[in-house]
Amino acid sequence: MLKIAHRGARGYEPENTLKSFQKALDLNADGIELDVHLSSDGHLIVIHDETIDRTTNGKGFVNAFTLAELKTFLIDDQYEIPTLKEVFDLVNKKCLINIELKGLGTADKVAALIEEYIVDQNWNYGHFIVSSFNWDLLQETSNLNSNIAIGVLTEEDVEKALAFAEVIEAHAIHPDYQLLNLENVQEIQEKGFLVLPWTVNNPEDIQKIKSYQVDGIISDFPDRL
Ligand code: G3P
Ligand code: CA
Repeated sequence: MLKIAHRGARGYEPENTLKSFQKALDLNADGIELDVHLSSDGHLIVIHDETIDRTTNGKGFVNAFTLAELKTFLIDDQYEIPTLKEVFDLVNKKCLINIELKGLGTADKVAALIEEYIVDQNWNYGHFIVSSFNWDLLQETSNLNSNIAIGVLTEEDVEKALAFAEVIEAHAIHPDYQLLNLENVQEIQEKGFLVLPWTVNNPEDIQKIKSYQVDGIISDFPDRL
């Protein structure tokens, strides 16, 4: 079962920072999950919200700033907002990277960056899963490069996600863990998809979800898995 660190090891270090991704590696996570938006000059920025308000000392929309401007804002007064490239270089093939597409315009740039690391740096498709709640972005990713593993995110309806996964030949379903039961986990797996629920932090919930024999869990505390 894959232990995937949500926004890095968010239970221990500030989310979506190089520090939190390093912590996930130190905890021997099998993978990290992160969120991407675009800067105004087209760089892939690793941050959860569409604004920098909650996590940095700045204010405003991510896509209103250039990369250089975004680098002047700090998380917890010390950490820069990372680019996706910086995270790839830190991880350096040591674990799986689950890239969640949040911002519009991210699909083609993420697909191109994955291809760049595969061609130039000997990474392989097994190092990446691209997920999103925005299924149009997943369709776009699949159209651009059918080799990229896709995780269909849902917080509402496992059956709908499963139907879409069959259409785009996805790799996995990423459901809110509260949507799962033994029957639907088996159904998803019988249709050939992995089940990678989020965000499971509480030890009792972890035990319950593990009893369904899911393929992996996304958690703020990967060491609890
Ligand atoms: O990818 C799973 C999970 O990260 C989705 O929710 O809000 O934490 O991005 P959120
Ligand atoms: Ca996410």
